[in-house]
Amino acid sequence: MGFSPLMGGGRGGRTGFTRRAAVAVVGVAALLTATACGSSDDGGGSSGGGTKKVEVFTWWADGGEKAGLDGLVSQFAKDCAGQTFENGAVAGGAGANAKQVLASRLQQGDPPDTFQAHAGAELLDYINADQIEDISADYDGWGLKQAFPQGLIDNLTVDGKIYSVPANIHRANVVWTNKTVLADAGVTDTPKDLAGFIANLDKVKAKGIKAPLAVGKDWTQLMLFESVLITDLGADKFTGLWNGSTDWNDAGVTKSISDFKQLLTYTNTDRDALDWTDAEKLVMDGKAAYQLMGDWEAADLDAKGFKDYSWFTFPGNGTTFQWLADSFVLPKGAKNVDGTKCWLKTVGSADGQKAFNTKKGSIPARTDATPADYPEYQQAAMADWKTATQAPSCAHGSACSQGWQGAANSALGAFSTNQDAAALQQALVAAAQQFAKK
Ligand code: GAL
Repeated sequence: MGFSPLMGGGRGGRTGFTRRAAVAVVGVAALLTATACGSSDDGGGSSGGGTKKVEVFTWWADGGEKAGLDGLVSQFAKDCAGQTFENGAVAGGAGANAKQVLASRLQQGDPPDTFQAHAGAELLDYINADQIEDISADYDGWGLKQAFPQGLIDNLTVDGKIYSVPANIHRANVVWTNKTVLADAGVTDTPKDLAGFIANLDKVKAKGIKAPLAVGKDWTQLMLFESVLITDLGADKFTGLWNGSTDWNDAGVTKSISDFKQLLTYTNTDRDALDWTDAEKLVMDGKAAYQLMGDWEAADLDAKGFKDYSWFTFPGNGTTFQWLADSFVLPKGAKNVDGTKCWLKTVGSADGQKAFNTKKGSIPARTDATPADYPEYQQAAMADWKTATQAPSCAHGSACSQGWQGAANSALGAFSTNQDAAALQQALVAAAQQFAKK
């Protein structure tokens, strides 16, 4: 598992993280708990005391995220008669609150029946901490090895075992626009590079929109910064930042920090207090023209009835598709193993992926979907995905472990206030030294 292209044949085994490094990220407490969970998980694969409730833990509590979850739940009700869905969602974009609650529940040996985990480095955290079960045998039973592209199967496989069922592929590096605000400012083009983007931001600003680029708190700033890094470094060198082949001291990173700093001058000053949906509201209300956000924004705008939007890939990213994938796992010590397995089977099924992804803004992980079944944005994303250059996301766990992500978020949060470019680069170098593959 690591950064090999999901659809392609792999790029020579850059795996990104050692087992030992990721264990260090998760910490000793989690490992102790994993032992406790292990000893309580001795029900021999039964449904665990006869409960028929499946507690599904996510951070999809509102808007398009909730609509996607609801789609899955209705399919689950059809496929898993006798089982009951229990909503364990903890609100907060990117799992900012949910991940803390989950970590403490896992530490206390009180896991939900299933939880949302990003494919890639984040999933490896849970595998290395021995907190989730190997479900390879079920993959065979459910025909999932044929349903997902080989590159994705390779990406999910650790020491020959598979631990999660991916529900989707999301794209992170997308700019969403308010069409009327842009038209009023006389902006007619889609910027292809940062200079063009800044020229358009200036045009909108000249029309009296003080903060034309809406952004929210730390992780949303990390997303914007990652997009700038892709522009300045290119996809391969960007990917190298996470697998050790690109040095965070690189001059390209210095340039990216400077470009990012310039972009921040076009953003709302209350950014550190806002979640992604608050920043999205600035776009919907015509108080901003642009927002960089993952393509869950398409679904959320649709769910909120806002039609006056368009989108483009972050300027300078070319054909790079910065991917992340939500997947579901079977935690060690889950109370309702049979019900959870039925949930996982639904997540991986053609009907489940359609019910979920048509509402979530993402594209299905399965290869057998019919594009015409999907809204306009996803049809475009499905087409892009086929020929895209792939790059992972740290803000959404495909590129970096949770420890590294936390350090990056803190570094960006501090920069938002102090604007100290050298300090930001030093903090990012230090984070890589602490968390990258040794
Ligand atoms: C991501 C997640 C997406 C979406 C987003 C915003 O981490 O993968 O599905 O929910 O956070 O909350």
